Amino acid sequence: VNGKIVIPVVVNVLYRTAAENISNAQIQSQIDVLNKDYTATNTDFKNIPSEFSGVAANIGITFELANTIRKSTTKTSWGTRDAMKSSKKGGIDPTSPSTTLNIWACTIGGGILGYAQFPGGSSVTDGVVIDSFYFGLSSAASSPYNLGRTASHEVGHWMNLRHIWGDASCGNDLVSDTPVHKTANFGDPVYPYLSPCLPAHNEMTMNYMDYTDDKGMYMFTNGQKARMSALFVSGGARAGF
Ligand code: ARG
Ligand code: ZN
Ligand code: CA
Repeated sequence: VNGKIVIPVVVNVLYRTAAENISNAQIQSQIDVLNKDYTATNTDFKNIPSEFSGVAANIGITFELANTIRKSTTKTSWGTRDAMKSSKKGGIDPTSPSTTLNIWACTIGGGILGYAQFPGGSSVTDGVVIDSFYFGLSSAASSPYNLGRTASHEVGHWMNLRHIWGDASCGNDLVSDTPVHKTANFGDPVYPYLSPCLPAHNEMTMNYMDYTDDKGMYMFTNGQKARMSALFVSGGARAGF
């Protein structure tokens, strides 16, 4: 890519109930959240503790809604095995996945808010899935996951970010400027949260790649930005964008 990265987005809506057939306004509200969170223009960016403000990043990537595709279904839940991404399985095939971020909005089930495919995987299943009830802003989305941050988190995975705890006890997320976390944090932790991992340090619970409530997550780091940006250069896994 040359200069600014703008990601075209196709939202694929699978609905059985009227509530699952989320409105265009709901969809646009999610695009707006992504644009804020990925340009450090989210209003809660100012809440970043000074300890972490030096590594807080403006990712500099924006998102543009290219199309919305809707399909009615009789399925009550879609699970996490990519059926929603296949017309043969009753879902919707992705649109141009090498040049488009596909987001599926449907009921996943099992308490799962969303899931994503990392870069380098099969193009027919590339993209992110966000449960319809945690998609975008507005009263239609369910608190405490009603600020559109499930998508901010899942798009982070789609751009090669690991969970901040490295999916292991005091694990490694392959990013040097994020502190070691013991495990996933939930709720809205009060800063400072002293890590149980040694040597002594505070955890960056407000990072999008933790598991806190939507209101508790509001930053990426420069190291995370470097991982994401590397995908879009020539030879990178998402160089088509
Ligand atoms: N992959 C996580 C899940 O399925 C998403 C966590 C998103 N967190 C949030 N605050 N929205 O549960
Ligand atoms: Zn995750
Ligand atoms: Ca780290």
